[in-house]
Amino acid sequence: MQQHGNTLRDGVSRAVLLDSFGGPEVLALKDVPEPQAGDGQIRIRVSAAGLNPMDWFMTSDAETAARFGLSLPCGFGTDYAGAVDQVGGGARGYAVGDRVFGTALSRAVADHVVLDADGNIASGIAHHTPDGVDDRTAATLAIAGSTASAALDVLDLGPDDTVLIGGAGGGVGVFAVQLARIAGARVIGTGSPSSAEYLRSLGAEPVAYGEGLADRVRDLGAGAVTAALDLHGTDTVHVARELGVPDDRICTIAGQVDGVPAANGANAAPDALEGIARLVAAGRLRVPLAATYPVEDIRTAVELQAARHVRGKVVIDLRPQP
Ligand SMILES: NC(=O)c1ccc[n+]([C@@H]2O[C@H](COP(=O)([O-])OP(=O)(O)OC[C@H]3O[C@@H](n4cnc5c(N)ncnc54)[C@H](OP(=O)(O)O)[C@@H]3O)[C@@H](O)[C@H]2O)c1
Repeated sequence: MQQHGNTLRDGVSRAVLLDSFGGPEVLALKDVPEPQAGDGQIRIRVSAAGLNPMDWFMTSDAETAARFGLSLPCGFGTDYAGAVDQVGGGARGYAVGDRVFGTALSRAVADHVVLDADGNIASGIAHHTPDGVDDRTAATLAIAGSTASAALDVLDLGPDDTVLIGGAGGGVGVFAVQLARIAGARVIGTGSPSSAEYLRSLGAEPVAYGEGLADRVRDLGAGAVTAALDLHGTDTVHVARELGVPDDRICTIAGQVDGVPAANGANAAPDALEGIARLVAAGRLRVPLAATYPVEDIRTAVELQAARHVRGKVVIDLRPQP
């Protein structure tokens, strides 16, 4: 086994763990025995973990947790970035020191994660992090980037499109807006009035969500809206229908409406994340970080995320403190 000597304290690792399901109050940072990479596995020293609504949704109650195959004691968080620090026998494709990012379902907010080198969504996935992408940014890419990519695949946008994106400033929105712009589409993005400048900075024409949205979109003089993506619930789906967008050019990731295609990050193209990481490295796509918290402040970080008004992503810092 190859190993790197960057342990925190001998044999001790930290992980956010839950002894019961519930809100942020059940999250606790605990010392655990340092996990070891077995045959065919790699161990990653995590330096940053990105939060997503699914993290606290999955662990909010026992019934929901069971649907995702989670049981107690349970870890927390799924998106991570860091560097490989152990490579088990027979594990191919990684060497100690390789920078990686990816997913480890509900166990990413920890000093170490162990994954199968030929992993999948259930066992965890590691992608190589390109030069030019820092770990905090890399930790935001997997869930939100693959979900935005899967949704845009459904809509197949081009330069003749004007797309209405509901919830455009959130974790998935920042990717969806910029990828739609890269595809050449005109983007109208919904947010609260105070998010208007921020949405503009991403490349979207801002419009306030809520009652009267269809009229406000018409007032933009945007011409026909040809496609729509709902990243928040179902309001944008209904407004898109009101604006004459056909169902097969509407997509939702956060609700269900009969006749409207739903997208899931798990269905993103196999090379989608590498493509997004390359865009970030090239400076063509940026990920705004709404806040970064040390892992000790995990509850505060989750409270901010769960309030659902985050602009961009919330990241947890797991680097050893001096
Ligand atoms: N299907 C999948 O594979 C998949 C994957 C990832 C996420 N999701 C789901 O997709 C949703 C979005 O995820 P996310 O990470 O982008 O969430 P998020 O980061 O929490 O989204 C926050 C954004 O939502 C906006 N928002 C708040 N209230 C709104 C409203 N009434 N109408 C429109 N926008 C509103 C906020 O804008 P203001 O701050 O301007 O108010 C903020 O920019 C979540 O429900 C998540 O569970 C699904």
